Amino acid sequence: MSAVHARTVTGFAMRFGEAPAGVWSAPGRVNLIGEHTDYNEGFVFPLAIDRRTVVALSPRDDRLISVASSFSDDIIGLRLDDLQPENLRGWSAYPLGVAWALSQFGADLSRAGGFDVYIDSEVPIGAGLSSSAAIESAIALALNHVWNLGLDRPTLARVGQLAENRAVGAPTGIMDQSASLLGRADCGVFLDCRSLHSEVIPLGFDAAELNLLVIDTKVVHAHSSGGYAARRASCEAGAALMGVDSLRDLDLHDLGRAAETLDDETFRRVRHIVTENQRVLDTVQALRSHGPGAIGALLDASHLSMRDDFEISVPELDLAVTTARAAGAIGARMTGGGFGGAAIALTPRAVLPAVKAAVLAAFDDRGLRTPDLFVVRAADGAGRE
Ligand code: GLA
Repeated sequence: MSAVHARTVTGFAMRFGEAPAGVWSAPGRVNLIGEHTDYNEGFVFPLAIDRRTVVALSPRDDRLISVASSFSDDIIGLRLDDLQPENLRGWSAYPLGVAWALSQFGADLSRAGGFDVYIDSEVPIGAGLSSSAAIESAIALALNHVWNLGLDRPTLARVGQLAENRAVGAPTGIMDQSASLLGRADCGVFLDCRSLHSEVIPLGFDAAELNLLVIDTKVVHAHSSGGYAARRASCEAGAALMGVDSLRDLDLHDLGRAAETLDDETFRRVRHIVTENQRVLDTVQALRSHGPGAIGALLDASHLSMRDDFEISVPELDLAVTTARAAGAIGARMTGGGFGGAAIALTPRAVLPAVKAAVLAAFDDRGLRTPDLFVVRAADGAGRE
């Protein structure tokens, strides 16, 4: 049993006075490549990581919901009859939002029983590693079980996304929940966000003696605030002006027409999405034909596109990326929604200590907050413990 699992069971027993009926967990994610492409119906290639959120849950005989967690001393109580997005606030909007969202996918809340739940997590919050999707996915799986809903994992990912969009108010796509629910050890999840068809693809990092280093800059982002929604709006405006349903319908050959049709800023937003979709396809292809040593340049190009065209990087992320590359990483990029959070650096094991030291020194030299550096492995997705 992991430490976080043990803490969750103890936390449940302390709050609710008995052992939980079941324990479920779901991982955070790192996106290897394919950023802001999900809500443009494009391609993404994330992986579930070996840091998990654990929920201990018991059904109740009445219609009350009680939510407790390691994040707060409060126990949030709500009646199932009051479960509406507008009644949900703060961190409890994630678990309660999922309970509500299940009703939009067939759960009959007028007949469902309440539940007690306790949540603990080892996914860092605000680091761009999808701590929120980890909560949503673990709760979705737990309630799918105790409410006997029989929903499959791709549908549970949509449930988590709906909770995030409506209860939390962040206009995010389907990537994070899909990674958390569909991930496999040592594999990435190649997802077509239009068809929702997914394929797990072996990464082979261990065999190639490569480590995926996460550099959490500690610059905190929140996707329910401005920048993320503004980028999404630009993409939608770009698609409309180009006469397509979504930017997925454009490819590299359309960029000439896009340059003539769109204002400079919208054109650069569109160019990021179109080229990023191609980079996801190229990454999967390179991985299959030549192995993980061949994907570094694509990670680098993705970062430049986010920095210059999509403009979602911050100086700390740029510093992490350039320093890691100069010290021997074979490719590096910011990961997640941007405006803060984490970068990843694909690093040969032999130079890992040098890369870490260089990044710490660079941040220290500039008087920046000390970043958190840790290696992640691709792990299995959500499950019952
Ligand atoms: C956040 C969102 C995702 C995705 C990424 C950017 O993580 O939750 O849906 O849009 O940003 O790729």
